[in-house]
Amino acid sequence: MLEDRTERGIYIVGHGIKGVSHLTLETNKLLLQMDFVFYMDAGTELGEYLSVIDLPSMNLIDWYAENRDREEIYGKIAAAVVAKAEKADRVAYLAPGNPFFLNSICELLFLSAAGKGIAVQLLSGVSSIDTLISDLQISVGEFGLQCYDATSFGLLRPKVDIFVPLMLFDPGVFYDPTVRFRSNPDSLRVAHLRDCLLEYYPGDEMWILVHSPMTRDEKLGYCVGTLAELHRYAEVIGRGTLFLPGRWRFTPRFKALTDALRGGSEAR
Ligand SMILES: C[S@@+](CC[C@H](N)C(=O)[O-])C[C@H]1O[C@@H](n2cnc3c(N)ncnc32)[C@H](O)[C@@H]1O
Repeated sequence: MLEDRTERGIYIVGHGIKGVSHLTLETNKLLLQMDFVFYMDAGTELGEYLSVIDLPSMNLIDWYAENRDREEIYGKIAAAVVAKAEKADRVAYLAPGNPFFLNSICELLFLSAAGKGIAVQLLSGVSSIDTLISDLQISVGEFGLQCYDATSFGLLRPKVDIFVPLMLFDPGVFYDPTVRFRSNPDSLRVAHLRDCLLEYYPGDEMWILVHSPMTRDEKLGYCVGTLAELHRYAEVIGRGTLFLPGRWRFTPRFKALTDALRGGSEAR
């Protein structure tokens, strides 16, 4: 457990996927000891929670402007957090999911704070990888799991076992350095992702695009298709994680998900 009074420095803490309901007790306790909190939220829930616990905070969502260069924004955010930590005692950066899972800002914070002699500590959070495993009910022990950031996958061209489930994160910004928060992915880049995957998989391989609920009222969103047709789904590819099920597609859960789509609309 954390000490009641924390040391000065930067605290990178994960707030999970589903609004404030994924905040851990450990994170909540730490936040209560902060002098300032930076966060990024397109909704209002995090801001409301921070004002209820009476914490000075700043929502950085407006910095994440559509079509701007993401690395530039990440650098600006890391610089702002470090600058604040040079003045305030304890500064938190509240990041979505697990902050050390595919989050360049957190990696930058470690680098730039070290250069200034500022201590950085990290607290885990519920990641989309956790919610996806449970939403899909993947028995990782039985099937295994391969995970990549989509663009890193394209760059690394790793060895892939096509029978083992594969998760590709950030599929909507494949080789795209710009912010695509509200707009659809560029369809040419989705076609490029399709071609990259076709180097490994046959064209009739099934994929699922999965979106875990991010509020109490949201339901699991998903869409299924074949790889050869991935480019036709540019409007949904940016809304979640692309999952190639491998042998998991022979499970009753996969059948139930695809049957539910046949019985209703194409995307849920
Ligand atoms: C930059 S990564 C950050 C991941 C985050 N640190 C985490 O632990 O989940 C963003 C990607 O995570 C995945 N992701 C985030 N929220 C999700 C959700 N609600 N459902 C499915 N995938 C999600 C998507 O692939 C998205 O493009």
